[in-house]
Amino acid sequence: MSDKVNHVVAKFDQPENASFFEDALGTGMLEVTREQLYCHIILALLVLLIAVRASKIVYRGHIHPLRSVPGPWISSVTSLWIRWQRWHGRLSFEADKLMAKYGPIVRISPNIVILNDPEEVEKVFIRKDLDTSPTSIRALRVGGHDWTVTYPQHPIARTRRHPVMIATTTKHLKLRHQVFIDYIEAMVRDIAKSDGKKSEDIVHHLRICTLKNSQVIMGGSGVDVESDTFPHVVGEYNFLVVWRLCLPEWLFQWLQYGPFSHPRFRIQSSDKLFDLGLELCQQAAKNEASFDDDPSIYKLFTDPDAKYPTQSWTDREIAAEMAGQGKFSRSGRHTDTSLPCIVLAATETTSSALAFIYYELAKNQNLQQDLYEEVRAYEGYEELDSLKYLDACIKEGLRFRPPVALTGSRLVPKGGLEILGHFLPAGTVVTTQSLSMSRQRPDLFPDFDSYNPRRWLGDDASTAEKRKFLAPFGVGARRCPGGNMATYQMRIILAATFRAFRITLAPETTPEKMAPFEANGFRSCHDRCDLVFTPRAG
Ligand code: HEM
Repeated sequence: MSDKVNHVVAKFDQPENASFFEDALGTGMLEVTREQLYCHIILALLVLLIAVRASKIVYRGHIHPLRSVPGPWISSVTSLWIRWQRWHGRLSFEADKLMAKYGPIVRISPNIVILNDPEEVEKVFIRKDLDTSPTSIRALRVGGHDWTVTYPQHPIARTRRHPVMIATTTKHLKLRHQVFIDYIEAMVRDIAKSDGKKSEDIVHHLRICTLKNSQVIMGGSGVDVESDTFPHVVGEYNFLVVWRLCLPEWLFQWLQYGPFSHPRFRIQSSDKLFDLGLELCQQAAKNEASFDDDPSIYKLFTDPDAKYPTQSWTDREIAAEMAGQGKFSRSGRHTDTSLPCIVLAATETTSSALAFIYYELAKNQNLQQDLYEEVRAYEGYEELDSLKYLDACIKEGLRFRPPVALTGSRLVPKGGLEILGHFLPAGTVVTTQSLSMSRQRPDLFPDFDSYNPRRWLGDDASTAEKRKFLAPFGVGARRCPGGNMATYQMRIILAATFRAFRITLAPETTPEKMAPFEANGFRSCHDRCDLVFTPRAG
């Protein structure tokens, strides 16, 4: 448009127009014309913009094939609603309210529908040909080298799940059993230093402990990456993901080099995580043991005899996968991020789930006492899966505060899909969330808005029915391949800490500060949970 303006203005300088302009100048007409010209151009632009916006709104609300899907008008016609909810970290809870109002399928953005019908969810998510959702869900950019947990545009991304699944089978986890216990007991010793006299942020401890446990699964027994800065870096990264979901790209470019140190650090947190992935791979590469002796995801990625195409990955690609990073610039330097892969998938989810469980059990001493009685009566860490109450505490934690907010999202393929009587055209994003499954069934989950592990005790038919409404690890073909490891280490961590301490709330830990906030999964509003750990006698 500025070319057009320049062209018109240039005409003023042409000799053949001189007499007209001289006359016009004499009458003062030219100044008016020049001002008017600019005004008219700006006005025309505004009108055009409004017209385009208005026609988009009309199209989305009245003509788009998704128009029949119920939902509030605002979320159907503009993505501002979903951005706003994401910015405030409450999309899942707001979407849940919408489902309570509109039913099991709701249009939460012009192109996104959320589903809460277990059978329909199963039908969609069981399919292997559906891609996991793109930019609109996970703040990914197009182009470059995107590849993350839930963004499998790169065909190889599909194959990543096999190495993770193989490295985390119960048989392989048992080989790591003692290493896990050593790291978890180190965390317990670290917490014990406060001697119940001052509060400890359990989120900080959990981030370090889950990183230590995950690094072994990822790189083998010789790996020990620097973990002191990890809690802070990962905390910032989570909020960077919110920014990516809500803010325009140019702002990041500016903030990255701008004068404000906090936003700069936040944006650089993705590079720091990448460096951690790189360090992990460099250490893993030095390990010459065979897979059978020291099974790790890195070994599976690089094994020339394995049946996965990951052997062709460059070191930087594997490092990105390990750390959970996205795109590379032309120079090969990692520049962009999205929902993270293995380090983050393995640590942030588990830490987040555990932090809320600690908080709830610190709040309710009766529940904590029940857990204490059970874990105290049981020596060691073998076969912890037989402890019913411990299992119930974990299940209820995952139900009440599922660590991954929108548990899974898929792209409708060519030809579209018919779901619950609505036609969803190709390119629509179908999403679902574990959070709503129990909340929309008060008959099965009375008092669903409170943490109550006791609801999972008992072997009756209703407990079996309830299990169908628990899907924190996702559903179907792309469900989490690391779920086994998650529960394995959660059991040991909870047993070790509740045996060692009576845990109470620190005065600074208020319900407001612990309100769930979605930042790359659920965490507390203040991204910490301060508790007092009083050592138990004996
Ligand atoms: C409480 C802990 C965890 C929860 C709640 C959780 C949840 C999830 C969810 C909801 C997904 C997306 C599923 C979908 O799109 O359908 C996912 C994917 C994934 N998770 Fe987990 N996860 C946890 C722990 C772990 C651990 C410990 C690991 C690694 C050892 C892991 C590795 C992965 C990977 C690699 C994917 C991507 C799978 C793919 O691309 O197909 N997760 N997880």
